[in-house]
Amino acid sequence: MKIPLMKPFVNEEIKNAVVYVLENERFVLGEDVYKFEEELARYFGVKYAITTSSGTHALEFALKAIGLKKNDKVVTTPFSFIATANSILHAGGEPAFADIRDDTFNIDPTEVSRRIDSNTKAILPVHLYGYPADMNKIIELADENDLKVIEDACQAHGAIYQGRKVGTLGDAGCFSFYPSKNMTVCGDGGAVITDHEDIAETVMRLRDCGRISKYEHDIIGYTARLNTINAAIGRIQLKYLDQWNEARRRVAKTYSSLLSDIEEITLPPSETSTIKPVYHLYVIRTKYRDDLKKWLEENGIECGIHYPIPIHLQPIYRKIYGYSGGEYPKSERASKECLSIPMHPFLKDEEIKYISEKIHEFFNKKSRVKRDG
Ligand SMILES: Cc1ncc(COP(=O)(O)O)c(C=O)c1O
Repeated sequence: MKIPLMKPFVNEEIKNAVVYVLENERFVLGEDVYKFEEELARYFGVKYAITTSSGTHALEFALKAIGLKKNDKVVTTPFSFIATANSILHAGGEPAFADIRDDTFNIDPTEVSRRIDSNTKAILPVHLYGYPADMNKIIELADENDLKVIEDACQAHGAIYQGRKVGTLGDAGCFSFYPSKNMTVCGDGGAVITDHEDIAETVMRLRDCGRISKYEHDIIGYTARLNTINAAIGRIQLKYLDQWNEARRRVAKTYSSLLSDIEEITLPPSETSTIKPVYHLYVIRTKYRDDLKKWLEENGIECGIHYPIPIHLQPIYRKIYGYSGGEYPKSERASKECLSIPMHPFLKDEEIKYISEKIHEFFNKKSRVKRDG
C-alpha cells in the first residue's frame, strides 16, 4: 500500500473552468477573480475579501493596512510555517515570539501578555493545523492594550470558533490557497478577509501596484494579484470546502478512536461543542517520532513534520536575533515530537485502519523489546 500525506483535488469541472478562462477572460484581474472574492466574502460572512498571489502576501498586506510602522512589534508564535513571522518583517515590523500551549500547539495567551510592551502594535495568532487559537483571550488582551489582531488562518479554512468562522474574529483574516491546503487554487494564492473598508482598500491597492487608476499610483505597491485561472479553480474548490472539512473531521475521529489506547502518543484535540477544527493536518506527538516516521514510511505511509525547526531557530532568525535554543521550550519540544500522518478528505476506512495498525505494531514491538531486555 502507498498512502500519501495529502491529496489535492482536480476534476473535469476544474479543467473546464481553466479552458474557459483561457478562451474568454483577461488573465489578470478577470471576471473570475471578482466572482471568487464575492463568493469568499459570502462564505465567511464578511464585507470584503481581496485575493492575493499568496498567503504570505495576504499577511504582509493586512499588517501594512493596519498601519504597521518600522520597529512596531507584532506578537506571534514561533511554532508555525516561517511565512507567519516573515510577513511581519516584510511589513517593516519585528516579530515578538510567545510560546505555545502543549495541548493545541497554538500560541498561549499568558505568554502573549508577557510579550506586550509599548512598541507592540498587533497580535498575529495562527490557527495551526486547522485548530482555532484561544481567540477570546487574545481579543481581550488586544482590547486592553489597544492592539490590532490579524489572524493567520492559512491552515484553517472553514474552522469554527464559538459559532464563527476563524478569520472573521480579528481585524482581518488571512488565507493561503497553496496546493496542500484544505482548498487550493492549484498554485500559489491567498486572500485577506475583513469588515474594515480601510483595510480592504489598502490591501487592494498594495496587491495591484499601488494603483488608484490605470496609471496613477499613490502608494508603493506590488504585483501580487491572484491570476484569473487560479481564481476560477478557487471558485470550484470553495463549493466543496464544507463537505471536505466534514470528511476530514470524520477521518480524525476514526484515527482518534483507533489510536486512543497507545500510551506513548498524544492525539490532537477533538472537536468540542464550541470548536470545530478542520484538521488541515492530523498531528500526533511522541518521543519516538523519528523511529515511528521511518517505520511508517517503510510501510508505504507518507508522513510529514510540521515543523522540524521552530521559526526562532531557523538559520536566518538565529543570525538576525541571536536565538540559540531554549528561548521557547514548548515550541522546541513540539518540533522534536510532532508527526503528521496522512490526512485528506478522500482517505478510505481501510487506509485509516492500516495506518493505525502499523502504529500499533510499532509500539507493540517497542514494548516487547523493552520487556525482553
Ligand atoms: C500558517 C501559515 N502561514 C502562512 C503561510 C503562507 O502561505 P503561502 O505559502 O500561500 O505564502 C502558510 C502556508 O504555507 C501557512 O501554513
